[in-house]
Amino acid sequence: MNTTTSTAYDTTEQITQEVLRRYEQTPDPRLREIMLSLVRHLHAFAKDVRLTSEEWLFAMKALEETGRWCAPGRNEFIIFSDALGLSMLTVTQDYRRPAGATEPTLLGPFLLEGAPRFEMGADISAGAQGTPLHAQGRVLDLQGQPVAHAVIDVWHSDDRGLYDVQDGFEENGAWARGQLTTGADGRWRFWSVMPVDYPIPQDGTAIEMLRATTGRSMRPAHLHFRIVAQGQRPLVTHIFDRQSQVLHDDAVFGVRPSLVADFVRHPAGTAPDGRVMGAAFCTLDYDFVMAPA
Ligand SMILES: [Fe+2]
Repeated sequence: MNTTTSTAYDTTEQITQEVLRRYEQTPDPRLREIMLSLVRHLHAFAKDVRLTSEEWLFAMKALEETGRWCAPGRNEFIIFSDALGLSMLTVTQDYRRPAGATEPTLLGPFLLEGAPRFEMGADISAGAQGTPLHAQGRVLDLQGQPVAHAVIDVWHSDDRGLYDVQDGFEENGAWARGQLTTGADGRWRFWSVMPVDYPIPQDGTAIEMLRATTGRSMRPAHLHFRIVAQGQRPLVTHIFDRQSQVLHDDAVFGVRPSLVADFVRHPAGTAPDGRVMGAAFCTLDYDFVMAPA
């Protein structure tokens, strides 16, 4: 037998070694580190489960279908990452948080760049349905000083548990979403509607995975925030409603105790900004503490 013409791929281990040798030529050191580790772990995973060709093809088609669900404001791959705990793992290990700084949590799939800008104190609900919510607080640095010119993106669900990007966004535009900029006092406040517990999108591919596996797809009611300010590390986080029924069963592992706050329920009366409310409403007070850049 002529051993020199024998394929280099007699064993799975030879395939792995051949692939690693090629990716060792990656010029950028960080990219090389990532690719070599990816190949090692991906191959080990395929061997561990003895991946079949049918299963491989199923996965390739699932990825193709997942791409079709992506659009501005909806990233189905992020929902997979969230549901597999990868997003929270990455946030947790990457964001080394000094004591006293607000905890980050995952970004989620629904951030939209270029959200409508509002004056501080404005109503960002833009017609979204739900119990009126007055939310306010401060953006502080680690020394407790107000952070001026902080750009705050906020986005959340309505009382059906839907985001604007899930419901006729092309025709209706943004709602329950906006951008605010703090003044010298670092204070933020806005009106909107109460978010509610909601299931992750029911119409994509990530939900199919969850239906076939954990069966858990609910997220506790929350507001999303992204805060960007000069000299501070950008903060991506949520504020969760302490009265949520699924606070301990978040489908995407995003809850941190320090991010759970009181969304206080009030009967009709006067709101913190003096507005007289003819029906029940809610209020929230929360201060963000940014870590230095
Ligand atoms: Fe959300």
